[in-house]
Amino acid sequence: MTEKLIVLGSNGQIGTELVTALRKLYGEEHVVACDIRRPDYDMKNSGPFEFVNVLEKDTLNHIFKKYKPTQVYLLAALLSATGEQNPKLAWDLNMNGLLNILDLAIAYGTSKVYWPSSIAAFGPNSPKNNTPQFCIMDPNTVYGISKLAGERWCEYYFHKYGLDVRSIRYPGLISWKAAPGGGTTDYAIHIFHDALKKGSYTSFLNAETELPMMYMDDAIRGTIELMNAEAHKINIRSSYNFAGVSFTPEILAGEIRQHLPEFKLEYKEHDPRQEIADSWPKSIDDSHATRDWGWKPAYDLSRMTVDMLNNLKS
Ligand code: SER
Repeated sequence: MTEKLIVLGSNGQIGTELVTALRKLYGEEHVVACDIRRPDYDMKNSGPFEFVNVLEKDTLNHIFKKYKPTQVYLLAALLSATGEQNPKLAWDLNMNGLLNILDLAIAYGTSKVYWPSSIAAFGPNSPKNNTPQFCIMDPNTVYGISKLAGERWCEYYFHKYGLDVRSIRYPGLISWKAAPGGGTTDYAIHIFHDALKKGSYTSFLNAETELPMMYMDDAIRGTIELMNAEAHKINIRSSYNFAGVSFTPEILAGEIRQHLPEFKLEYKEHDPRQEIADSWPKSIDDSHATRDWGWKPAYDLSRMTVDMLNNLKS
């Protein structure tokens, strides 16, 4: 069967790179990029694009009818920091967007659905170090609450309707191609831009805030590996813990100084994102992903730093 893929939220930080990777794999015309915003020139000219708001059921229905997708990737969401500025919208978009897609996937016989969860699904009472797959989860951001609820819905649709839905709890994702979308981990991207442009950066998270992070190349590869794994290997139908590297702003700055010795890191007095970061894990145990579908990250802190700096420079 020819695959037909739909990526919703294709213009975002993840979508931009996932669409490119999927088009390489499946052919440009077989991957439909969808977003509420106009895509940049490259994406529009490398394959089909549709304006889609995941909250508009009629438009979604039309898209499913038109393309009869075999795989759907739902990336449209409000992240942790922006979500706190508009909790009701975050809940509506993150939750009803997901339910709309799950229902349409069943109605149109879509074979596989991908939906990302996040380290934000954990909360202040979750173990901080090497956070296990199964533990107390008490997220206190609307983003985290929507991710945890979404995980439960994914598992529910798998058991109740047999829908092959797969998910990963992404850590903070670091990339240079597209801007991050309003998360708590965004400092780890801004720091590279400012290090090159200004030689200094003011972090909104404090020096000791350790968070799980991952280079985008790893995240995209992992996502595709999960989606291509045989269904019987996917034992977790909520969302997989998924780890790359963990570091603090201070450690990251030290790594940047290996290449830009004059780089100065300063810290903001107070920022609401600090509280969010403090409620999240420091590091993640992803042994289920390793065991079930062979997950192994390729980028450590130093390789990621070299790649970020080289790409941003050019
Ligand atoms: N990077 C996301 C955020 O900071 C976490 O999933 O909101």
